[in-house]
Amino acid sequence: MKEEVLSYVENNKDRFLSELFDLLRIPSVSADPKFSGDVKQAAEYVANKLKEAGADHLEICPTKGYPVIYGEKMVDPALPTILVYGHYDVQPADPYNLWETPPFEPTVRNGKIYSRGACDDKGQVYMHIKAFELMMKTNTLHCNVKFMIEGEEEVGSQNLGLFVHENRDRLHADVILISDTSMIANDCPSIDVGLRGLAYVEVEVTGPNRDLHSGVYGGAVANPINILCKMISDCHDENNHITIPGFYDAVMAVSDTDRAELAKIPFDETEYKKDLHIAETRGEKGYSTIERTGIRPTLDVNGIWGGYTGEGAKTVLPSKAFAKISMRLVPNQSSEKISQIFSDYFKSVAPKSVTVEVRPHHGGEPVLTPTDSVAFKAASMAFETTFGKRPIPTRGGGSIPIVALFEKELGIKSVLMGFGLDSDALHSPNESYGIFNFLKGIETIPHFFYHFAQLNKN
Ligand code: BES
Ligand code: MN
Ligand code: MN
Repeated sequence: MKEEVLSYVENNKDRFLSELFDLLRIPSVSADPKFSGDVKQAAEYVANKLKEAGADHLEICPTKGYPVIYGEKMVDPALPTILVYGHYDVQPADPYNLWETPPFEPTVRNGKIYSRGACDDKGQVYMHIKAFELMMKTNTLHCNVKFMIEGEEEVGSQNLGLFVHENRDRLHADVILISDTSMIANDCPSIDVGLRGLAYVEVEVTGPNRDLHSGVYGGAVANPINILCKMISDCHDENNHITIPGFYDAVMAVSDTDRAELAKIPFDETEYKKDLHIAETRGEKGYSTIERTGIRPTLDVNGIWGGYTGEGAKTVLPSKAFAKISMRLVPNQSSEKISQIFSDYFKSVAPKSVTVEVRPHHGGEPVLTPTDSVAFKAASMAFETTFGKRPIPTRGGGSIPIVALFEKELGIKSVLMGFGLDSDALHSPNESYGIFNFLKGIETIPHFFYHFAQLNKN
């Protein structure tokens, strides 16, 4: 089977790439209503390609937001079923001027495809469609497969809970397979066995009823931007530990054995700093970089604004200040509880001279995926077959809200078989995806299907 897979990929790779490029050209930015026509067009493109590859019962299912694509191939009801999840929407490409080549005109440089969504998640979704085509064409599909590709992941998957609930029978499967994460390096494959959750809030601090002359009033009236900055900075202590009372209460302790395993993960701090042009890393005292991004919760400001930000200088004491704040969560923190804890704290520390409003945005729950399951074993064997190395279990720092939701609604666990790299610049200008990674993914997925079917027989 190995040879057959390899030669199919080799013989069709130019077409695979050109089809992916067509998908990348569609600016399916879910956050910006200006692109709503494009998001729908991307859904149609994906649905058509799934159909062409041989999926049955293809449907572009409407939701309150963007549609979910469903398709399936039931080979035999007695065989195990794999549900493939991914997303066809992408993050906004702003700031456009920082892209070396336009975000929606995919370009190859140094073996990498540069485009918004190249890795997150169009490139990785497309690997599954082509791996499915490969298995259909070479008669090697020995599992049932269902596809569920959504268009609102980058804006919090808020309509997906209802969709999953209403379609729980149709979505029934033995495992959920997701390629929307990264591995350590191309010569060091890994599988994420956990993802962080997310609590995202927006805060509004109001001082005087109008913008004031900063000379006439400055010094006597609270400046909401100054106050907001102080409140934000007080959220961390000198050890970069979060000071909000109760914030760490639910955090599941990671055993010394697990920490020792994490410490074994090859990680080049010098390379990491070089890639980001930073002189030093910074984070919670007592934890390594891998731990800080994998097993520890965080609080970060994503955006802050208020007052005058135009050309030149305007002397103004602003009436209002705003910030968007995200907290990454680890098992067993709850996004709802953390949002509440944050909101209570922020209001309690605000001086009387201002009023504070906290509005929660979307959230997502942290997850751990099993490492002793048949699915994990199959994924591990698949990587070993195509990379020649056993993948290392790691923790992903990002969030995929649907993973916890699937578990809650359907009782099904996921396997996170991601082929990206952290250096692919997800959500940043010049996002990329290695052609090696794209093709390796197409090659590895059929081996997962094979081993999953085999292991389920025993
Ligand atoms: N694919 C990412 C999540 C990810 C990336 C996990 C790399 C692990 C490693 C996903 O598309 C994403 O960006 N999720 C959002 C969450 C969402 C609620 C907006 C995130 O993590 O910020
Ligand atoms: Mn993604
Ligand atoms: Mn993303």
